[in-house]
Amino acid sequence: MASNGAVDSKTHKFNPHFTQAVINATGPKASPRVRQLTTSLIRHLHDFARENELTVDEWMAGVELMNEAGRMSDDRRNEGQLVCDIFGLESLVDEITYKLASDAADEPTATAILGPFWRKEAPLKSMGDTIVSGFDDKGDRTWMHGTVTDFLTGKPIEGAVLDVWHTAPNGLYEQQDPDQPDMNLRGRFTTGKDGKYNFYCLRPVPYPIPYDGPAGKILQALDRHPYRPAHIHFILTAPGYKPIITQIFDRNSKYIEDDAVFAVKDSLIVDFKPFQGDPKADFELPYDFKLATFEDAKKHSVAGTTEESAA
Ligand code: BEZ
Ligand code: FE
Repeated sequence: MASNGAVDSKTHKFNPHFTQAVINATGPKASPRVRQLTTSLIRHLHDFARENELTVDEWMAGVELMNEAGRMSDDRRNEGQLVCDIFGLESLVDEITYKLASDAADEPTATAILGPFWRKEAPLKSMGDTIVSGFDDKGDRTWMHGTVTDFLTGKPIEGAVLDVWHTAPNGLYEQQDPDQPDMNLRGRFTTGKDGKYNFYCLRPVPYPIPYDGPAGKILQALDRHPYRPAHIHFILTAPGYKPIITQIFDRNSKYIEDDAVFAVKDSLIVDFKPFQGDPKADFELPYDFKLATFEDAKKHSVAGTTEESAA
């Protein structure tokens, strides 16, 4: 800056006071967290624009993508989330939220992103039920089973609800597919005293995330494919325990190394085993889930859902 306070245009290509002036416009009634997040956001946005000498056309193209994402979104489609997903933001927030600070030898089941296809109030099922309707000659029937336990004590958890959903053999979730019955390939199972669960599903297949909107345009511009490796989604809840949102991934699936939304974690990769002797299943999938109580989660610095927010 020159001695008279004017900006020295030789040392500063752009007004060096501008970003701070925008930050200072925040009023005293903004909450501390809103102030923290927006201050950081403004700094990063302005640095991004300056570093790249963003042109008006480029900025407008970004604005138009955001507007288009908004116009496409409704209760069946969340294009804004999809755009975040292909930039890895949902996976990064998931990692930040659930990171264990402890060096515990054992850990609760790792989490993974929710994605846009979960639906509230999937059908309540009994143990041993199937979540599959139709597809009689398509898809590999699978018997999935395991135990939900406390990650520290190893004790089975009674009353744990396992909410599961996955795509059909055509790669579509039921709400994307008019040919599937409502709530197909979804279900909720509640464990008894032994913490055990079991149900029939299909071995999932890789599928493309919707790419007919802004997320697809960005993938194309980046020379990237839209595919996710085969996976099954879960939300686990149990009284007194921190809920987890997760997915398990088929080790032999295409795209396991190359998920379009960066959600694969090693501990969530599973093996579908050929299964004989059950006319209802060609594959077996054993998998145990481990949950932390809210208290243990706090002790071990597992951030995210609190008892109050879970309620
Ligand atoms: C999903 O797995 O359902 C999903 C996740 C992120 C984006 C699109 C789909
Ligand atoms: Fe999915």
